[in-house]
Amino acid sequence: MSQTSSSLTLEKIIALSKRRGFIFPTSDIYGGLVSSYDYGPLGAELLRHIRNLWWEAMITRRQDMVGIDSQILLHPQTWVASGHVNAFNDPLVEDKVTHKRYRADHAISAWLETHPQTEDIQVEALNLEQMGELILRLKITSPEGNEILPPKAFNIMFQSAIGVVEGDKMPVYLRGETAQGIFTNFANILNSSRLQLPFGVGQVGKSFRNEITTGQFVFRTLEFEQAEIEYFFDPESTDWQALFKSWQDAMWGFITETLGIQPEHLRWRRHSDQERSFYSKETYDLEYAFPFGMKELWGIAYRTDYDLKQHIEFSGHDLSYTDPKTGRVFVPHVIEPAVGINRILLMALCDAYWEDTQNSRVVLRLKPSLAPYQAAVFPLLKNKPELVEKARSVFSQVSRKLAVTWDERGNIGKRYYAQDEIGTPFCVTIDFQTLEDNTVTVRDRDSMIQVRVAVPELTGYLLQRVEE
Ligand code: GAP
Repeated sequence: MSQTSSSLTLEKIIALSKRRGFIFPTSDIYGGLVSSYDYGPLGAELLRHIRNLWWEAMITRRQDMVGIDSQILLHPQTWVASGHVNAFNDPLVEDKVTHKRYRADHAISAWLETHPQTEDIQVEALNLEQMGELILRLKITSPEGNEILPPKAFNIMFQSAIGVVEGDKMPVYLRGETAQGIFTNFANILNSSRLQLPFGVGQVGKSFRNEITTGQFVFRTLEFEQAEIEYFFDPESTDWQALFKSWQDAMWGFITETLGIQPEHLRWRRHSDQERSFYSKETYDLEYAFPFGMKELWGIAYRTDYDLKQHIEFSGHDLSYTDPKTGRVFVPHVIEPAVGINRILLMALCDAYWEDTQNSRVVLRLKPSLAPYQAAVFPLLKNKPELVEKARSVFSQVSRKLAVTWDERGNIGKRYYAQDEIGTPFCVTIDFQTLEDNTVTVRDRDSMIQVRVAVPELTGYLLQRVEE
């Protein structure tokens, strides 16, 4: 049965990720770079599958959605208008002795875990001042046990500059979210398409945040990939609560059905009034039971007309919508489901990890459509040219339709072991019987059951199993 989240450690996932080529520390040969990771051959495939499945489910298969691809560097006024320059802050505390810095809410939560209180403290609902008071009142210390300085606001936008002449450079920001590229293109999208409200715009791309908290593997990194949707609607003719619920259902369906994540490891958490951003009327987090606790995977917020109105004010451009039936002119409202592709990847690895003690193997029970490779093709023996040649022709047949890997090293048992650990759902072996009757063995990763399939039917058989 499935590995429970409680017996799984992040260390096991980190070790497997490096051992098998999913994720490496960035600049490993220079000792790494804080909260930064590179994706190896398997990680790149897994990311690509997650990204493609998201795009297919959220954009391609929906009539009311389109996608865009905006720049990482946007006009700096974008971030003034959106509030990021003034308010995209994390609370930061500093250890008085070591001068190490921590995100205040994370440091307080970690301290409370080892110093349980009788009062109910909702750390995520505290503002800077309230955190400061709590630190003083409970004598909260740093993870090293030292006194900490009062929390300060720390802006997490990364800054850079355009231009070559010193003193004449234009400051720019690496985007802190992909969402603003959607808002700033709202009029362009509307004017260049035949879209009518309600409709949504999605995009996938890199975002950057100078995160204070480190050490959470790819859960929280400085550079990460976001998949965000801004769903625009008329609040007078659309019931926002029903729309919000339909997006929650779409998010849940994507995670549990498309990606095959176990529903018992997921829950919805509603943001309290104090925790919610000032412009949001409703926010929920879809949380996953990561090995380090229930944490935000995917957020959904009703951002009202805040962003478009801010951009109207700061750019002086008209970003309103004219109802084609009534002629009414208004600024649309938005509901925003926003997720990190890398966080989905970490969840997928954690959820799939299974120690099959009975068979002394580690298996990544990834949904076949998600697995880096959907099939592996082996010649039974690598020193038999007739087996290798036949296996190569099977590989080229199947690889036209599926992601396939090739392995001819070691014995068949070792190959199965390696494929199980990277989540390959089907292993195809070309043996001596293949040369006689043109059939191959297909071994199922989870049950380890082997069946014989005729080569002309193999691609169809595998495609069907992957879709199941
Ligand atoms: N536009 C709204 C927005 O950016 P967010 O909750 O800050 O909202 C959305 O980010 C999602 O992006 C999160 O739910 C998470 O999955 C992902 N994310 C945010 N910060 C991240 C980080 N430092 N590393 C990896 N993923 C991150």
